[in-house]
Amino acid sequence: MSAFPALPGIAYGGDYNPEQWPRETWREDVALMREAGVNLVSVGIFSWALLETSEGVFDFAWLDEVLDLLHENGIAVDLGTPTASPPAWFFAAHPDARVRNRDGVVMGFGSRGMASHSSPAYRSAIVRIAHALARRYARHPAVVLWHVHNEYGVPVGEDYSEQSVRAFQGWLLDRYGSLDGLNRAWGTAFWGQHYTDWEHVGAPAAAPSVVNPAQRLDFARFTDHQLRECFVAERDAIRAHATQPITTNFMANQAWATDLWKWAPLVDVVADDHYLWAADPDAHLGLSIAADLSRSLGGGAPWILMEHSTSAVNWQPRNIAKRPGEMARNSLAHLGRGADAILFFQWRAGRSGAEKFHSAMLPHAGTRSRVWREVVDLGAKLERLAEVRSSEVVADVAILWDFESFWAQDLEWRPSVDLSHNERIRAYYERLWRDGITADFVLPGHDLSRYKLVVAPAQYLLSVADAANLTRYVEQGGTLLVSYFSGVVDENDAVHEGGFLAPLQDALGVLVEEHLPLREGERCSVRWTGDDAATLPADVWQEALQLHGAEVVARYADGPGADGPAITRHRFGSGTGWYVSTRLDAIALRRVMTDVYADAGLVPRGLPEGLEVVTRHGAEADYVVAINHLEVPARLPADGVELLTGAEVRTFLDVPAGEVAVIRTARSAGGGGRPPE
Ligand code: GLA
Ligand code: GLA
Repeated sequence: MSAFPALPGIAYGGDYNPEQWPRETWREDVALMREAGVNLVSVGIFSWALLETSEGVFDFAWLDEVLDLLHENGIAVDLGTPTASPPAWFFAAHPDARVRNRDGVVMGFGSRGMASHSSPAYRSAIVRIAHALARRYARHPAVVLWHVHNEYGVPVGEDYSEQSVRAFQGWLLDRYGSLDGLNRAWGTAFWGQHYTDWEHVGAPAAAPSVVNPAQRLDFARFTDHQLRECFVAERDAIRAHATQPITTNFMANQAWATDLWKWAPLVDVVADDHYLWAADPDAHLGLSIAADLSRSLGGGAPWILMEHSTSAVNWQPRNIAKRPGEMARNSLAHLGRGADAILFFQWRAGRSGAEKFHSAMLPHAGTRSRVWREVVDLGAKLERLAEVRSSEVVADVAILWDFESFWAQDLEWRPSVDLSHNERIRAYYERLWRDGITADFVLPGHDLSRYKLVVAPAQYLLSVADAANLTRYVEQGGTLLVSYFSGVVDENDAVHEGGFLAPLQDALGVLVEEHLPLREGERCSVRWTGDDAATLPADVWQEALQLHGAEVVARYADGPGADGPAITRHRFGSGTGWYVSTRLDAIALRRVMTDVYADAGLVPRGLPEGLEVVTRHGAEADYVVAINHLEVPARLPADGVELLTGAEVRTFLDVPAGEVAVIRTARSAGGGGRPPE
């Protein structure tokens, strides 16, 4: 893990698709790349049909020329394997190698991502092209990184083809050892699903009513497993020839087919793609979540922002252009949260195909454009930030993020359609963000001992072993906050013996007797039991709680749970377990979190809400990255040097509205961080 490509300073660039352009354009491209300070481009990601023109027949001449030209101009290459988009000849020879979706529709050609990852023909073809590319370019001086495939799991992950069903049966046999084991784990006594022959076990295809959720959860696990096997096959083919780091581009909080905790140990460096959700007025919060998750996946090591956009994307219902200054705020927010490479999709806007309305570093309007000027300006900024490279973010708070739990919660027939793990994580994250507290993401089974506070906004699926880990964390002095609809089922989507939340009863001192979801649009409120008698608005959900040692912090003032406990606090061992059984928004959560921070020994810095501040700890200095999302200047207490302007900072810096400051300051273990070892 964590071999960063050999480049000085911060990497800057994007996807480069020269095969879509005549040769004359290539010369202009490299000249403009130099003007913008580009030092790394990703090449070849969709080039299979032009590299292997028929089975086993390769044409590398054009790619040789491209790599040589880039190298002569001092631009390094992240070389892609083109396996997200096999050629027409491949599907003509292997029509069965296409994905069949849940409704039984076989995917057509002329797009991308239509190949079945369980197809033996596909698997041998990807290994062949990976070997061929690595054999040819392993020692090319331009190549500093390998980029396998593109965004595993999108546009399709699950595959219901015959070969996939066969592979699923084998995967299940490995997991359960016997049909009895499978029948038990899936609870097949329900609705007469009991199996007597492996041949009868299928993928959870479309059916008249809800399909067994345990079967669907296992199919999600299996899908992830198949995708990983394909990655590993390509990675190992490359490794047979090449020594550069190998990665693939994740979509940390924007796609759900891959369990990235299982992927992260397989790559040499974490790389992530992130796109703003235009419909979200606070899309920078989603960005921060993605960046913190990317960093967490790599255990805190610097990571690569492999793709983001200079302005609009092309695939949302309304593709909102970024406002002046927004691109730099976005890019530097990723950098603040640990990215040492700032890359875009894509270098030059494409004239043809499905993505021609996507923004690029070099837009259709050319160099006489705002976007180009901002791209050149960002390149210059990143040059001034070269010394930030390799420094690390250290967080005191962890938020649970568990893809398996999300897969399970997202299945049908949950107690309310208003339950959303995304929404809950975002609300708690936003509270921390507004309080200037940086968070990591973790699995419930991880070592949590270094965190002062662990938040579980949405841990619907929780194994008994993971619950024991959380319980130990509290017992040994940690502060744990658990939100509603957590600890409901085990790894087979079966309700815990003893009822909802039973495995966390010791840590939290409560059990959930009954779920009490609210009607659409219904509001309720919770009333504090202490002196201040605060009342806060809530909605979506209540629960009937049984107290088993916890004190009641707030009660339901109204609604189906009226007068019952809503928020509880429990001293257990030398720590504290909080339980919040209703939906409070990020504003209402302030009242709760103030007390939770006090239990955890966390002291918010009292910065203006909307001034995003993250510290990267370097070997010789700390780097404070401050992004002002407000429309007025924001004051940041600091001493040091502002690296973008070179200005000395004494006592404080007023960060102008919409601007970013990066301050080199004395290295410290304070400010919520721990210096790197
Ligand atoms: C129907 C079915 C039952 C059960 C209930 C649940 O009545 O006959 O098997 O599914 O719905 O409400
Ligand atoms: C993804 C893909 C790219 C491109 C961009 C457009 O991230 O990896 O190939 O399609 O989206 O936003």
